[in-house]
Amino acid sequence: MSAVPEIRPVPLAFRPMGEADVDAVLAAEQRMYPFPWTRGNFVDSVRSAYRAWVCEAAGELVGYAVVTVTLDEAQLLNISVVPERRRQRLGVALMEHLMADARRQGAKQLFLEVRPSNAAGLALYAHFGFHRIGRRRDYYPAETGREDAIVMARVI
Ligand SMILES: CC(C)(COP(=O)(O)OP(=O)(O)OC[C@H]1O[C@@H](n2cnc3c(N)ncnc32)[C@H](O)[C@@H]1OP(=O)(O)O)[C@@H](O)C(=O)NCCC(=O)NCCS
Repeated sequence: MSAVPEIRPVPLAFRPMGEADVDAVLAAEQRMYPFPWTRGNFVDSVRSAYRAWVCEAAGELVGYAVVTVTLDEAQLLNISVVPERRRQRLGVALMEHLMADARRQGAKQLFLEVRPSNAAGLALYAHFGFHRIGRRRDYYPAETGREDAIVMARVI
């Protein structure tokens, strides 16, 4: 009988983003977004009271997220999974992690904005039952001018 190799999923580790993570996070961000966050955005996030997370698999950065919590409302500012690791439910794992953390911080609702053209983002938020509560006109820069944002929310 030939040995069948056992495939073990690599466990994910979540930890708070620190200044030492910013180079790797910024490199990932610049690979992913035509209009990326700046180094200053990430440095401000880790120095402020924002909830900024990195997600690693076998010591490699595979995703990150930034959330603010003000009283009982949380706002998702960034959630990203590196392209090589997409469609492996890491987005789901990151959302579960950040929502549990926001809840522990006292948040009762989570708000976010997403581009109408962002099929992956919309699918992720649909998975978690976010509902549309508004639209911000010309909110995002886009290749062809500006793009609206869909505003979504969910009780957490
Ligand atoms: C959005 C993002 C975080 C999703 O991460 P991911 O790890 O690939 O997503 P998951 O594997 O956890 O999938 C979650 C759900 O989204 C769906 N999905 C993911 N990518 C999709 C795509 N490109 N098109 C359609 N559906 C998609 C999955 O099928 C799954 O749906 P299900 O629960 O109904 O089965 C990732 O695509 C990403 O980093 N995109 C670039 C950054 C970005 O746009 N962030 C959001 C800004 S608002």
